[in-house]
Amino acid sequence: MVSPFDVLKVDEDADEATIERAYRERIKQAHPDQGGTLEEFQLVRRAYRELDDRDENGDERATDDDDTDVADIDLTDEDGDAEVEPVRVEFLDYEVLDDYGWSLDDGDLFRKASHADLDESEHGRLLVQPDESLLEGAENRGFGWPFSCRGGACANCAVYLVEGEISQPANHIMPDDLADRGFRLSCNGYPVSDELRVVFNVKHLDELDDLILPPGPFTRR
Ligand code: FES
Repeated sequence: MVSPFDVLKVDEDADEATIERAYRERIKQAHPDQGGTLEEFQLVRRAYRELDDRDENGDERATDDDDTDVADIDLTDEDGDAEVEPVRVEFLDYEVLDDYGWSLDDGDLFRKASHADLDESEHGRLLVQPDESLLEGAENRGFGWPFSCRGGACANCAVYLVEGEISQPANHIMPDDLADRGFRLSCNGYPVSDELRVVFNVKHLDELDDLILPPGPFTRR
């Protein structure tokens, strides 16, 4: 059994500040871009969430659902592996922005999309499983998002991150300035937040021109 306290490496009577410090330290070590694994990263996030719920419920170490003591919550399955949940993703096709004259930095983008009469392939939601990249998650749910190399070398699969976080492995071509603005590669980017909002199909943006390789035999769209 692995309790939230075990994961964060704090005592069961640790105060809020100690838990916060431990979380910040552990989440940095566990981040997939810093040598950690997605599974470990999500385990640390879940441990912190459980302890945070406890604090919101007073100091009773109980969850919302029942009176389970937080120390008795097991974050692993019967094989001892971390139980990680799928990530909820809301997506929007960049072609829609083009058609409607919306901009990427419009804070109301997804609300507008909800009120427009869009096809489910243009705007919708999907779940990405823990072992899937964002691109794989979309494909495995039946969506045809653009790609070519599938190896972080061409930017055909680029998405724009509106909300949430996607890992960005070291071996990619995305320059820091574009990554800082929210561009990610969906073929080798793994969601590392509970929820995501992304605009996919951004490969035609001028900013990405230099990164796009000529279409290969496997290019989609
Ligand atoms: S498909 Fe080429 S970088 Fe993702």
